[in-house]
Amino acid sequence: MTLKITFGKKLPAKAKTLIVPVYAKNALSPSAKNLDKKHKGFIAHALKKNPSFKASIGQTLTLSLPDNDEADHIVLLGLAKPEDLTALKCEEAGGKLFMTLKSLACEHAALLIEPDNTIKSVKSDDAAAHIAAGLKLRAYTFDRYKSKKNDKDDKTPDLKSFTLAYEHSANAKILYTTLENIIDGVYTARDLVNQPPNHLYPDAYAKFIRDELKPLGVQVEIIDEKKMAKLGMDAILSVGKGSERQPRMVIMRWNGLDKASKERPLALVGKGVTFDTGGISLKPGAGMDEMKMDMGGSAAVVGTMKALALSKAKTDVVGIVGLAENMPSHNAYRPGDIIGSLSGKTIEVLNTDAEGRLVLADCLTHVQQQFKPQFIIDLATLTGAMMVALGHEYCGTFVNNDDLWTHMETSSKQTGEKLWRMPLDEVWKKDMVSDVADLQNLAKSGRFAGACTAAGFLEHFIDEGTPWAHMDIAGTAWRKSDQPTVPKYGSGFGVRVLTQMILDNYAG
Ligand code: BES
Ligand code: ZN
Ligand code: ZN
Repeated sequence: MTLKITFGKKLPAKAKTLIVPVYAKNALSPSAKNLDKKHKGFIAHALKKNPSFKASIGQTLTLSLPDNDEADHIVLLGLAKPEDLTALKCEEAGGKLFMTLKSLACEHAALLIEPDNTIKSVKSDDAAAHIAAGLKLRAYTFDRYKSKKNDKDDKTPDLKSFTLAYEHSANAKILYTTLENIIDGVYTARDLVNQPPNHLYPDAYAKFIRDELKPLGVQVEIIDEKKMAKLGMDAILSVGKGSERQPRMVIMRWNGLDKASKERPLALVGKGVTFDTGGISLKPGAGMDEMKMDMGGSAAVVGTMKALALSKAKTDVVGIVGLAENMPSHNAYRPGDIIGSLSGKTIEVLNTDAEGRLVLADCLTHVQQQFKPQFIIDLATLTGAMMVALGHEYCGTFVNNDDLWTHMETSSKQTGEKLWRMPLDEVWKKDMVSDVADLQNLAKSGRFAGACTAAGFLEHFIDEGTPWAHMDIAGTAWRKSDQPTVPKYGSGFGVRVLTQMILDNYAG
């Protein structure tokens, strides 16, 4: 069931749950005051009787109304101090509100807001749009493989509609529409990560991208294994050799500028290993199922391309994803093999589980050869070491250009997708040089600084002077959810920060 978010000046009759904001020290928002008056002091009374409600961000207090009332519930939504409120905090509040509405089994809810001059740090219109966005982000579910969708154990109905009843609803709606385009991209990225690897293998994935993005005006080119061989993409081909399912490279182009424009495109590159067994350097069995998320980088690229196309972004962007399945078999590449790459550089394979860097190598070369981009940002679930360093909260980001980093950092703070700058160093670049080939895919120094040496390997494939960022999303692509119905799920990490950054800095 998809949740519909609507905006209107009036409260819809079907809304049986009415939500009003309350601030720290139980200060009622204008809409809470109105509702309190209508219910003869019911809200003020409830606040007095519930001292544990402190109106912290997203904290809720549910009041049940008598049977003869038009509505069933009033939900007080905490927004803490109005002078400290930010768009991000509104999103957090929206997310928490969704969980309360879910537990109430309410189908139609409405948030009542009035222009509020006590909110200083964010405009009321923005606050409204971001509460709705937080709600929508949290409402994501993945149940396409449940055969009985409407017969859940708990029989709770889903939230079907959420209305923002607000005098300035037209403004809030415009703001929300931009956010919803991005959320659409996030949903697509999450769906892709959540898809099981028997359904989402390279060819199926490539076709999905074509079917999803072409109708939005994105040009999609699929490079199959034959064309890869012709072009000399030996690195990605080697990774896919052990699988029945042949690799694909997909090139997505969003041309938001005039044809006459001479501006070089922006480039996004994603690792799309649809399943990573480790290959002949087989991974341990426990938790291996999670390696279906090893295409999270590519999912973020697809989601971002979708969000940009829906936003009709005035910029040219090329997205490239390398799709391959890393399997052990009699055909698989081996530790000890020396393989080629599109760049012409030879690579000694010392561990077939360090496959992501090989897939990326050919994608990075191709995007530079074909498009001479203004900058490249790649995303990849590249190393376990990244997770050891920064856990699930921060995405380590290696950037060779301070201006690019400044833009990324600003958008990171704005969207709440946390990035942390990591170091690039010649030492780690040299660490990846082989004795018998140009490069090797394991660091000579061993496992220490594993995320940094992986970035050092990629750096060998970046042309001198090309601004480049590498986001290792191993820790952030996958979330342990706080929703019991969705125990683990793809986060769609990257879509929000990248779309925001491109829209704010590179789209006119
Ligand atoms: N896909 C993995 C990295 C990964 C691990 C992502 C855990 C998400 C969660 C990657 O292909 C890999 O196996 N990397 C190896 C590299 C090593 C052999 C140098 C790793 O991190 O152990
Ligand atoms: Zn691997
Ligand atoms: Zn991998």
